[in-house]
Amino acid sequence: MTTHDIAVIPGDGIGHEVTPAALEVLQAAGRRHGHGFTFTEYDWSCERYLREGAMMPDDGLERLRRHDAIFLGAVGAPGVPDHVSLWGLLIPIRRAFRQYVNLRPVRLFEGIDSPVRGHIDLVVVRENTEGEYSEIGGRMNRGFPDEMAVQQSVFTRAGVTRVLDYAFDLAARRGGHLTSATKSNGIIHTLPFWDELVRERAAEHPGVRCDSEHIDALCAKLVLDPGRFDVIVGSNLFGDILSDLAAAVAGSIGIAPSANLNPERDFPSMFEPVHGSAPDIHGLGVANPIGAIWSAALMLDHLGLPAAADEIVAAIAAVLAKGDIRTPDLGGTSTTTDFTEAVLTHL
Ligand code: NAD
Ligand code: IPM
Ligand code: MN
Repeated sequence: MTTHDIAVIPGDGIGHEVTPAALEVLQAAGRRHGHGFTFTEYDWSCERYLREGAMMPDDGLERLRRHDAIFLGAVGAPGVPDHVSLWGLLIPIRRAFRQYVNLRPVRLFEGIDSPVRGHIDLVVVRENTEGEYSEIGGRMNRGFPDEMAVQQSVFTRAGVTRVLDYAFDLAARRGGHLTSATKSNGIIHTLPFWDELVRERAAEHPGVRCDSEHIDALCAKLVLDPGRFDVIVGSNLFGDILSDLAAAVAGSIGIAPSANLNPERDFPSMFEPVHGSAPDIHGLGVANPIGAIWSAALMLDHLGLPAAADEIVAAIAAVLAKGDIRTPDLGGTSTTTDFTEAVLTHL
């Protein structure tokens, strides 16, 4: 039996409801293939912040670094400013561990009522360590009429090139079509540079059909005709917005998974649902666990167990196709536990 050592951070809100569901499915799927898991749980959260003044301990990153992978629920709670909680935990992990690819698959499963027609099977590749998410900037003249806030975006040749190469390679392995999200008509320094690098990398990947779409038009096309997309690559902020949009178009943001990948594997990668801590439904037991369960499948894939990963996605698809068990975000009345048990039964 091979054992994988996983760091688990349930975090806040529904993170505590969907994480146990995902780990249970992970264990069951792994066991069928002779793989086991040890889970080390860290209580790093807004609750910890309110108690101890920090989201994680000073040596938090050092501790995480020793694990094979990290599984995270969600972070954020009323009473703690979001920029404090996220820049105290999630974003430092992504950056310190060079998880520069945030992979966010979206599929329209059979049996789901989608607001759009047609077939959806796409992956958003989100740049995950630079771009619009930067520490450079500041607030000035607080409380005065000329008060202002400045936030610099950072687009480096190395940072953009590496995520583009990942996206081109992924597109080559899938449908051979890559769409780059841009806004080089309105943003005059960074996104023209992004476009230039897209053209450079496209020349190195002649087997991939590559096109560019302005982010505003791209959002409209994703709603009107999502079937035309295969892999979409975008900057940190564009990728963030596109992944919620695409997930909602495919039924609910509750089903969207993500893999924060360090492709070189010199640091652990992190797996988490795309959604947040959903304080509005926390405690009701009705959070959709699909985003977390599918994220566990992405983790299995990363750990070298693609067959187990496929079995999890197939089990999710089978339960959805049957149609009797679904959480309220998908129009049903089932609980997190009902759905999780149905997936376990299918495995
Ligand atoms: P959210 O994703 O938490 O919720 C948005 C809406 O979607 C809510 O109505 C919620 O009930 C619903 N929803 C989300 N996940 C669901 C699920 N699994 N099943 C059913 N419904 C679901 O986004 P938000 O409201 O913008 O943010 C809430 C908090 O979460 C904030 O503190 C935010 O910063 C944080 N957040 C954290 C992460 C993360 O940890 N990766 C991601 C996004 C938001
Ligand atoms: C996500 C989230 C985070 C992000 C927030 C909570 C900082 O929305 O993982 O999609 O924007 O990266
Ligand atoms: Mn997001």
